[in-house]
Amino acid sequence: MCLHALKKMKLGFIGAGKVAQAMAQGIINAGEITAKNIIASAPRSKIDNIFLEHIAKNGIKTTHSNSEVVKFADIVILAVKPNVMPIILPEIAPEVSKKNLILSFALGVTLRNIEKALPMHTRVARVMPNIAMHIGQGTSVYCLGNSVRPTDPKLIRNLMGAVGYVEELQDESLMDCVTALSGSGPAYCFMILESLVDGAVMMGMSRAQAMRLAANTLIGAAAMCLKGNYENGSMGSLKGDVCSPGGCTARSVFVLEKMGLRAALIAAVEASTLRSKEIYKESLGRPGYMMDSNDNQSYSSRSSLLDVGEEAENEFKAEAINADGENSLRTRNKEPALLPVYSVPDHFNRA
Ligand SMILES: NC(=O)c1ccc[n+]([C@@H]2O[C@H](COP(=O)([O-])OP(=O)(O)OC[C@H]3O[C@@H](n4cnc5c(N)ncnc54)[C@H](OP(=O)(O)O)[C@@H]3O)[C@@H](O)[C@H]2O)c1
Repeated sequence: MCLHALKKMKLGFIGAGKVAQAMAQGIINAGEITAKNIIASAPRSKIDNIFLEHIAKNGIKTTHSNSEVVKFADIVILAVKPNVMPIILPEIAPEVSKKNLILSFALGVTLRNIEKALPMHTRVARVMPNIAMHIGQGTSVYCLGNSVRPTDPKLIRNLMGAVGYVEELQDESLMDCVTALSGSGPAYCFMILESLVDGAVMMGMSRAQAMRLAANTLIGAAAMCLKGNYENGSMGSLKGDVCSPGGCTARSVFVLEKMGLRAALIAAVEASTLRSKEIYKESLGRPGYMMDSNDNQSYSSRSSLLDVGEEAENEFKAEAINADGENSLRTRNKEPALLPVYSVPDHFNRA
């Protein structure tokens, strides 16, 4: 598998929100896949879909049909919120074939649960990217499903590598921690930067200049960590090099220690990891979510995927299959909505 193979691929996004837009922009900028070979879907809404309109500006094909994305694309990225996964997995299952590599960006939803909802031997991987893909500086981690082809890891590395740094994770249980660290991480960095800028502004510097200095300082410090031998995560000696005895940095570092910067960041990663696990559990508790035997829920049949509860009806506000028999997508802000009625394809009944 060479990079050239990626250029021939067609890429599809189910969901056209922030992360899909960041990835689409990054991959087009990288010149790896052209816009005409990319498609994105999102629900119809009153003013059509702002996200779709935005993504279409790049020349990307757009649709309100998730099935169309699966038919068009070799690589299908599930870029929807975790609570939408129970809707889209059964919706796309009848269209998924061996040509598709399914990459789920959804936090908390396990490979096992995705695989169970799709035809047997579907090529699935979980990927946790981050928003910096937009400028080709993302950080992505992927976990492989049971049925990937030997060439798929390289394909994923080429795809996600085109928009930043990528590495494989063997232990899927750490995916929640990845979500908390590199998935949520840009938000922590933005807060840190903003605070440093505020500090400099308070001391009389212009916001623009403070921003340039703070951001480049963060980039430089991070680059030093990556270049040096700091794989054990202990950067005390680097910090020591900046702190002269009796100097300014030693004083400010003491303030940061006293005010609990480290504890705050450690607790932030812990909180996000736990929330990621919670979201997964909440999804499992929802009527219609696919269950597996390890989930300790009272209903475990695959057909429970197709159960339609009142809660799901209200929450997901899915549209009925429209008059043309075409699957239409969930519509936001619409009055009483119905969930689509599906027949159970044979592959749903596998053990
Ligand atoms: N944002 C990040 O930095 C980030 C980083 C790593 C991973 N992720 C993961 O990526 C996923 C997407 O996150 P996001 O931030 O991009 O969310 P988002 O901005 O809310 O985008 C979600 C997209 O899914 C669409 N959608 C909703 N229901 C749908 C359906 N039935 N069929 C097709 N599309 C549907 C939404 O359309 P409407 O807006 O019209 O509802 C929207 O376009 C999440 O699972 C998240 O955990 C996000």
